[in-house]
Amino acid sequence: MLDPKGIVTIDGPSGAGKSTISRGLAAKLHFTYLDTGAMYRAVGLALEQQGIDLADTPALAQCLAKIELTLVPNGDDDVRVLLNGEDVSQATRTPEMGMVASRVSANPLVREKLTALQRQLGEKGSIVTEGRDMGTVVFPKASCKFFLVASAEERARRRQAQLAEKGQIVDYQEILDQISKRDYDDSRRALAPLKPADDAIIVDSSSMGPAAVIDCMLASIAKSAR
Ligand code: DC
Repeated sequence: MLDPKGIVTIDGPSGAGKSTISRGLAAKLHFTYLDTGAMYRAVGLALEQQGIDLADTPALAQCLAKIELTLVPNGDDDVRVLLNGEDVSQATRTPEMGMVASRVSANPLVREKLTALQRQLGEKGSIVTEGRDMGTVVFPKASCKFFLVASAEERARRRQAQLAEKGQIVDYQEILDQISKRDYDDSRRALAPLKPADDAIIVDSSSMGPAAVIDCMLASIAKSAR
C-alpha cells in the first residue's frame, strides 16, 4: 500500500496527458490533485496584464509579492485557480498562455515563489502533483515519481483534437512547432529544467489510452510500496 499521506509526482513535456492522468490517478487514490502548470499560467497572466518586464527585477518582485494564488477544488477531480480572487482557469488554458507560462517559468523569482507555495500545498501529503520539476526539485522525497512522455507528433495530434472539441480549429504544424519550442525551452533552461528524476519511472503514453496509463501507474505504485 502507498503511504496514505504520500506524494505522487507526474512530470513530463506539454501535451503528454499529465492532466488527465493525474486527475484520474488522484481520484483512484482518493488524493488531491495539484496542477502546478496552472499556477505558472496564472502568474504569466498577471505579469502580462500588468505589463511587467521580467528584466525589471524590482517591479517583478513587487508584482509577485501582491499576487495571491488560491487553488479551489471543483468536484472530484478538478481544481480552479483563483488569481487575486478571480477564476482564471479557463482564460489561462490556451496554447498562447502555455507559451507565456513557459517564458515566465524560467525566471528565478517566479520559481522561488511558486516552489514555496507548492511545497506548502503539499505539506499535508495525499497529493498527486503534475508539472516539470515535481520529482526533481519541489518534492524530491516523493513516494512515487513518474515521467510521462509521448512523441511530439502524437502530442500535437491530441492537442489539435482537444482544441477542435472546443470549436477551435488550429493548424497541426503550428501546434507541433509550439510543442517543440516548449519542449526545447523547458528542458534547456538553467533552473529546474524538465527532466526525469533519477528514481522516476518513465511511462510512454504514445500508444496507450488514459485508463491503461493509470492502471500501469497503479501497478507500479503497488509494486514500489511492497
Ligand atoms: O503543464 P502546463 O502546460 O500547464 O505548463 C505551462 C508551462 O509552465 C510549462 O511550459 C513550463 C511551466 N511549468 C514549469 O516550469 N514547472 C512546472 N512545475 C509546471 C509548469
